Amino acid sequence: MELRFQVNNAAISGSNTDWKALGRPSPTYDDIVGENAKKLKDVVKQSYEEAEACPRTNYHGVKLVTTQELVPLLELSDSTRIVNLSSILGQLKLIASDGAKELSRVEDLTEEKVDAVVKGYLEDVKEDSIDSKGWPTIYSSYIVSKAALNAYTRVMAKMYPKIYINAVSPGYVKTDLNNHDGVLTVEEGAKGPVRMALMPDGGPSGLSYDQIEVVGEKPKFKQSYKMAEACLRTNYYGVKLVTRELIALLELSDSPRIINISSTMGQLQLIPNKRAKEELSDVERLTEEKVDTVVKEFLEDLKEGLVNNAGVINGVIDEGEVGYDDTAGEMAKFIRSYKKAEACLRTNYYGVKQVTQELIPLLELSDTPRIVNVSSTMGQLQLIPSKRVKKELGDVEGLTEEKVDAVVKEFLQEVKEGLVESKGWPSSYTAYIVSKAALNAYT
Ligand SMILES: NC(=O)c1ccc[n+]([C@@H]2O[C@H](COP(=O)([O-])OP(=O)(O)OC[C@H]3O[C@@H](n4cnc5c(N)ncnc54)[C@H](OP(=O)(O)O)[C@@H]3O)[C@@H](O)[C@H]2O)c1
Repeated sequence: MELRFQVNNAAISGSNTDWKALGRPSPTYDDIVGENAKKLKDVVKQSYEEAEACPRTNYHGVKLVTTQELVPLLELSDSTRIVNLSSILGQLKLIASDGAKELSRVEDLTEEKVDAVVKGYLEDVKEDSIDSKGWPTIYSSYIVSKAALNAYTRVMAKMYPKIYINAVSPGYVKTDLNNHDGVLTVEEGAKGPVRMALMPDGGPSGLSYDQIEVVGEKPKFKQSYKMAEACLRTNYYGVKLVTRELIALLELSDSPRIINISSTMGQLQLIPNKRAKEELSDVERLTEEKVDTVVKEFLEDLKEGLVNNAGVINGVIDEGEVGYDDTAGEMAKFIRSYKKAEACLRTNYYGVKQVTQELIPLLELSDTPRIVNVSSTMGQLQLIPSKRVKKELGDVEGLTEEKVDAVVKEFLQEVKEGLVESKGWPSSYTAYIVSKAALNAYT
């Protein structure tokens, strides 16, 4: 049997609340982490037994179920995800105690160190010293258990590099845990965990998310040596090989052409490594051997773990900017939310039109006015699969402002209706491509 996903959801709050005395459906975030916490000590209570049961379920339970029982099955698959349901209450900034310091030393984290923090906390509970030792006042055991779970998520990611393991807070969801006081439905709360579970290969591992945004730091996209090598083998060596095979045939023609389909991602400014940048930008002295050497060095550095985070792709998981979608391939695709698509068109296309309209009277006062619309190679019509749109925007003689507007309007409507792919719009960088294609047409 092969197992591809493991979602660790089970949790308890570790406290008991006197709802009547509280006077509201559930303690708010401010109640828990703010000034109010001290006042609520006798309302949201926690016995030693409750405090101890909480990490047993929320932290040790995950260790037991996943690491000891399920990892052998999970490792049978090449593309496996573990999602640990965490909470924004697990953020280290909510724990002042020196006893939790170890959890912030992320590079040196080990399972034993996380265990020791939890054990130390429980000893302080037993000695009734959590206040004096700087542990949170209410929900303290829940907070510590989720902080431990976040830390352990990092440890797990290191222990099992083949598996993508992340922690995610579902947001404030209406469930038993908060006396159904949450603001999100269960479906809305499931969005983040499901997205992490369906994340494409090459995504981050060992991180903690609040719904879909990374908490604390930018994710480092995992790039195994195998994947990087396969990428170079296809995109670079493959082109060289095929070209060498075909050159003789091409040379038989009087006007042969070679077009290498590249990407704006191949811009040297995206490579922080100075030497590679210098070498590849020295266009006068470039040779095949020099390019080969840069590629070889990159692969060797990667093998030795010397490609720093900045050298690998960094990104922020933010809905609408760069996101994951379950149909995405190796690259994270842009989430085509209507709001973001609309903002993109509003700036890149309608914005240009509006500013131009404002300035035309002034420009026309000059005898030699110029307008430069900064576009992108991504605005090429060949990137839009829809034949109809391609024909409409490609009909340079028949183009009118109204026709371009109509295409843009239609696009936004179809984003709204979730018809992006079925109507033949690009599947990634969608709104950006359309905005730049519209801008080119408007130009
Ligand atoms: N709701 C929120 O606003 C919120 C916010 C942040 C994080 N979270 C996290 O989201 C996850 C789901 O919470 P929820 O809101 O859905 O809470 P919930 O309604 O209280 O559900 C918790 C689930 O965990 C199960 N469980 C508890 N202890 C268990 C144990 N020892 N063994 C097996 N199952 C056990 C419970 O089973 P029984 O029903 O059988 O007891 C229940 O099904 C939790 O990890 C929680 O910390 C929730």
